[in-house]
Amino acid sequence: MPGDSPIMRAYRPEDRAPVVRLLTGSDPWRKLGYGDEDWARLFRTDGIVEGREGYVLEADGAVAGVALLRPKFLMGDYLELLAIAPTARSKGYGALLLAQIEAVTFARAKNLFACVSDFNNGARRFYAGQGYCEIGPLPNLLIPGSAELLLRKTSGPMRKI
Ligand SMILES: CC(C)(COP(=O)(O)OP(=O)(O)OC[C@H]1O[C@@H](n2cnc3c(N)ncnc32)[C@H](O)[C@@H]1OP(=O)(O)O)[C@@H](O)C(=O)NCCC(=O)NCCS
Repeated sequence: MPGDSPIMRAYRPEDRAPVVRLLTGSDPWRKLGYGDEDWARLFRTDGIVEGREGYVLEADGAVAGVALLRPKFLMGDYLELLAIAPTARSKGYGALLLAQIEAVTFARAKNLFACVSDFNNGARRFYAGQGYCEIGPLPNLLIPGSAELLLRKTSGPMRKI
């Protein structure tokens, strides 16, 4: 129903076309050289590629956002991809999807990691506002001349001594 609150749910094979449409031609991936082959590898016709959990944000019956989570990374989870459809940005959907991913992660682990490209100033401000610390640069990780910045949000240390 129009106007219903957006909800996060698990990715389904039928989400593939709207998810790929949402990502195609979108920065930072366009600038990083991602294209159809990459989306086909990650979002397969029979589900998500092995080792990842896929989630979509559904708003008014349509896919408005997508996230890929890799569990068991450095005492936490790694958020491999977070995207809101260009037409649905700046409505609070990114913050909502991220908060729901965090609920998944912090129910089982102490850290959520992500990467953001050094040139992606908008996303850097977005993550800073959601409580993520920039741990440091990983130079030339994806493309020459650009760094991926490792980000971390934590609920505390692993061990109590
Ligand atoms: C980054 C992204 C996920 C943010 O989603 P969104 O739905 O547009 O963001 P929201 O509306 O939830 O904004 C939440 C907060 O972040 C801030 N923010 C969001 N995008 C911002 C931008 N480009 N520049 C500065 N601040 C930004 C908002 O101002 C808001 O701040 P507030 O809480 O103080 O009002 C979305 O813009 C996107 O998909 N971008 C392209 C893909 C990408 O860069 N992904 C992340 C890196 S892999």
